[in-house]
Amino acid sequence: MPEIREEELNSLRSQADIAEVVGHYLPLVKKGKALSAVCPFHDDHDPSLNINTDRQIYKCFVCGAGGNVFTFVRDYEKISFREAVIKVADMVGFKLSAELSIETQSVDPAIQRLYSCLKDGVQFTHYNLNTINASDAKSYLKNRGINDAIIDKFELGYNPDNDELTKFLKAKGHSTEDLVKSNLTRINEFGEKDVFAGRITFPIHDPQGRPVGFSARALQKDLAKYVNTAETPIYSKGRLLYNYHRAKTACRQAGETLLVEGVTDVLAFDKAGVYNVLATLGTACTKDQIRLIRQISEKVVLCYDGDTAGQSATYKIGTGLLEAGFKLEVISNDTGLDPDEICQKHGAETLAAFSRKRVSWLDFLIEYRLKSVDLNNYSQKKEFVRVMMNEIAKVNDRFDREMLVQRLSTLTKLTAEQMGLLAPRTTTTPSESQLRKSPVLAPRLSKLEWAEKEILGQMLTGRLAALQFRDELGFLPDRLNNALAMTILDYYRNHSEILLADFINTLGDGALVSLVTEISNNEIYYKEYNQRALRDALTHCKASMLDHQIDQLKTEAKKTDDLVKRQSYAKQLEDLRNEKLRLKEQKKED
Ligand code: CTP
Ligand code: MN
Repeated sequence: MPEIREEELNSLRSQADIAEVVGHYLPLVKKGKALSAVCPFHDDHDPSLNINTDRQIYKCFVCGAGGNVFTFVRDYEKISFREAVIKVADMVGFKLSAELSIETQSVDPAIQRLYSCLKDGVQFTHYNLNTINASDAKSYLKNRGINDAIIDKFELGYNPDNDELTKFLKAKGHSTEDLVKSNLTRINEFGEKDVFAGRITFPIHDPQGRPVGFSARALQKDLAKYVNTAETPIYSKGRLLYNYHRAKTACRQAGETLLVEGVTDVLAFDKAGVYNVLATLGTACTKDQIRLIRQISEKVVLCYDGDTAGQSATYKIGTGLLEAGFKLEVISNDTGLDPDEICQKHGAETLAAFSRKRVSWLDFLIEYRLKSVDLNNYSQKKEFVRVMMNEIAKVNDRFDREMLVQRLSTLTKLTAEQMGLLAPRTTTTPSESQLRKSPVLAPRLSKLEWAEKEILGQMLTGRLAALQFRDELGFLPDRLNNALAMTILDYYRNHSEILLADFINTLGDGALVSLVTEISNNEIYYKEYNQRALRDALTHCKASMLDHQIDQLKTEAKKTDDLVKRQSYAKQLEDLRNEKLRLKEQKKED
């Protein structure tokens, strides 16, 4: 593979704005003048990823991740640097040189074939729904109020009987092996059989919008209601959300995501003109799915079915989302119906209005817990109050807290004071992430560590500092710092200045990128050339290195009985001590 030319890389880099690229994946938050986002590289709850548009780099103050547009896309998508460059070019419409563009399609061909099976499968089933084969399926959908517009938008289809899908796909050149691998076909004693035969098909896409599987519904009551694609190399139920690729823009715009149980609920909301809707396809929501939602909004509105299963899913999923730092609301649903049934029974307008009928998470929680509590039972009541006071303590807004306590008081006929006895003890311990963020509590650096960073900071802002370093010291005690110093010196051989966002491309090592972004994000280190301050830092490093050598020699000298050796050690020690004295005097002169 040819190397990507530096000029090409820099030219692309200068056209790809860091805020735009990060914003392509994550919602950006304005903090004063600065832009930040919830860091995708650690389990972040509040926006710790700082986006520096002046320098075109990003840095997380908590986990240390940092870099430029390319490293962001590479680490976010977990792809190679090269693939990231191609992606960024695609994002900003930059025309890459011919050799690179060819690589755009270079995904593992075995996997590519599975995507292709699914793509053709979706096309065939969708086409079939409008044939005579599928008149039952079509009228079933009509009866459920699913019109042609919805059918086309969501590419609903019908998988005919007699294994016609398998036959069609094989005729199109797909191998049996690939069809089995993508779970469209299964082999049993009767031969190669369609997995979804006789069912209405709802294509499921991955977050990039490629079809990867189906949820397939039976027409008759006596069959299993849904058959879903099993786990395949391209389909993993816990790692995608139904309708994600279509809804993500709407979710970002609305600032919230409606989370529902089933495919049909998404379709019903679409009819009602509510587009920021995703389905978990059941009552579980995994960490990976939570991560996906975090990329498109920081608020989730839970809209699970009105039945018991739906309500306990609301509780379970809500708790998970709350722990992950989401803002939450719940659509109160005491109808016992799911959104699709509401739409069928009462119409799309009623469903649209329903989607605005929200209660706070705590209101939901009170109602939810109350259902399983007998307030006339002393210990049940006490436990209920204890749990609720614990939840209320987590609410930030003081007024909200007061209101909730009052509500609880009315419910339980206890005074606020009595309930206070069951509240968790209020401590003002800051959360762990607050601790790590607070600059006062940043790990205190030794003077040597500080001096090394000061040297590197100045070297990064200008060539003069680098030359002074080369002439007066030449290397740094810390291995990583030294590696960076050498890289900087090397860079100045062909460049007159360092443009951070471009310089980062030349650092293969992630630890170096992290170090560079750390130093450049700290004005204490990253500052204009100052000969005096630099000399102080260089002198300090020199003195520390001498101290270290002196200590080592002393230890060695103690170990040996050999007189000749001892004398030699003594001589060396004297030399080192003299050098240190010279340093001290020099410092006084300065
Ligand atoms: N589900 C499933 N298998 C089942 C039942 C449910 O995979 N046997 C999943 C489906 O993805 C379904 C979701 O869980 O969309 C919600 O289930 P449910 O509420 O029972 O289905 P509905 O979406 O209401 O489907 P319908 O209206 O057609 O009954
Ligand atoms: Mn339903």
